[in-house]
Amino acid sequence: MAYEAVWMKDPSKLNKIEFAKHEKDGLDVIRTIIEEYAHKGYDAIDADDMNRFKWAGVYEQKPRDGHFMMRIRINQGVMTSEQARGLASIARDYGRGLIDVTTRQAIQYHWLRVEQLPDIFKRLEAVGLYSFEACGDCPRTIVGNPLAGIDKDEFMDTTELVEQVNDYFLMNRDFSNLPRKYKMSISSSIYNNANAEINDLAFVPATKVIDGEEVRGFHAYVGGGLSAKPHLAQELDLFVRPEDVLKVAIGVTTIFRDYGYRQKRHHARLKFLVADWGVEKFKAKLLELIGDMPDAGENKIVGWKGVYFDGVHPQRQEGYSYIGLNVPVGRTNAEEFDQLAELADTYGDGKIRTTMTQNIILAGIADENVERVLQAPVLQRLSPKPKHFMSRTVSCTGNEFCNLAIVETKERARRVAQYLDDHVELDEKIRIHMIGCPNSCGQKHIADIGLQGTLVKTPDGMVDAFDIAVGGILGPDAQFNKALKGRVKGDEVGPVLAELVAFYKAERTDSESFHQFVQRVGVPAFQEKLTEILAATA
Ligand code: HEM
Ligand code: SF4
Repeated sequence: MAYEAVWMKDPSKLNKIEFAKHEKDGLDVIRTIIEEYAHKGYDAIDADDMNRFKWAGVYEQKPRDGHFMMRIRINQGVMTSEQARGLASIARDYGRGLIDVTTRQAIQYHWLRVEQLPDIFKRLEAVGLYSFEACGDCPRTIVGNPLAGIDKDEFMDTTELVEQVNDYFLMNRDFSNLPRKYKMSISSSIYNNANAEINDLAFVPATKVIDGEEVRGFHAYVGGGLSAKPHLAQELDLFVRPEDVLKVAIGVTTIFRDYGYRQKRHHARLKFLVADWGVEKFKAKLLELIGDMPDAGENKIVGWKGVYFDGVHPQRQEGYSYIGLNVPVGRTNAEEFDQLAELADTYGDGKIRTTMTQNIILAGIADENVERVLQAPVLQRLSPKPKHFMSRTVSCTGNEFCNLAIVETKERARRVAQYLDDHVELDEKIRIHMIGCPNSCGQKHIADIGLQGTLVKTPDGMVDAFDIAVGGILGPDAQFNKALKGRVKGDEVGPVLAELVAFYKAERTDSESFHQFVQRVGVPAFQEKLTEILAATA
């Protein structure tokens, strides 16, 4: 460890997890798992180490009966077919075949047992993949533009930069004890394909004229994050050349490590420090650490397409296309992964790409082969032309596997989307995100319609219910959605949303998107409508 743990000087400002983290680094649990727990079994795991399992990318699954979930980092969501096959074989051997694509482009397994973890670590490493630091108070999966290198709408291919930053931070003990989770996003997409505003640190495309020449680089945003107190990241007044990205990342992460709050777990993310300091003070501190840098140039993000890619699209390379596939609520399996790997090798560029909307992209397909790919059996379920609501529905893990969940989400979200597709005809695509508790792993705040699980009292006892929020968006007009009053019972979500969507359909002007409509009519109009719908169903 090449730094001093300055925060330990004042123990009165530390929560109790901080003492455990200081006593034994989270990364040390990987060795303990391999050498001890894999042999002694679940019952031998001590409580502090169970928390440290997150640094190995492993979380206890509900109902704490010895099964685990595991998250695998996929840098900017791009993996090779060999890696996809490796992932599929692990899922098949240990994870009941299940593979979830997450809202940060990662892959998640369920049903693992501690005895299996050493073999899984080994098999992942054999294909160059890691679960390490995919969870825990450390730098997590670096999200990015899944179209990096093939995108017509990016300023540069960020693949090498993402790898450089990932390789620097992964397993780096100087940064494995942060106050809380730490999420980075690096993308040069003008459509903000890596959701910059909801990350702790994000790099977005920018240009600046320096010595008479236009230089392509980045602007840096800091302090974004969701959960119960969501914050949009704020732009620093800096222009970052590509060769300075790592330096800025190290500087920002050092500030978080040394000045971030460690007193309360729910007040520890970088967003709280940024909100208190303001961006000017943050920039001054950063420059103190990394030296002078030019002021900001021109931010090149022009819009946001919700990070959706479904359908066939031309890529930057003439004569080649990419095909965006819908993975309903992000859940796929080993069988489908193997088939996708086969398609990627036979017709594509040998890669499989995951998106922050829990979907998959195949790329590098010569135009003359597109039809063949579209006919492949696996594309009949993972459709490039999904029904509208299914295509735009995201869900967190929910109480099927998550110990923090208040309600069931994934299967319910799928049913809601299906209900809407069966009952509502609409040319527009409305983005719906469902989460099972305020933590917002399913990024509720950025949805057109966000659904947050809760419970309501009824004469028959407590039942699952949802709070509704409308009008979220990222990009130049970024804002989180606004919550409406009035809880909707779990089995009424589909019909209630159908009525809210009918309201939009009836009152919108030509080609007005759902977001534009919310902006025009205002949240109170939605509130009035929801109150009316709930009164009628009561
Ligand atoms: C066992 C419990 C949990 C499960 C199963 C779970 C699951 C997930 C999954 C699958 C993702 C996608 C993430 C990725 O690939 O990095 C995610 C992201 C996220 N998680 Fe959790 N999570 C859990 C606990 C928590 C807790 C305790 C918090 C907050 C206090 C939290 C807040 C978030 C947020 C805000 C995201 C947002 C995605 C983003 O940053 O873009 N989660 N979680
Ligand atoms: S949002 Fe809540 S219920 Fe859903 S996965 Fe995250 S912690 Fe679990």
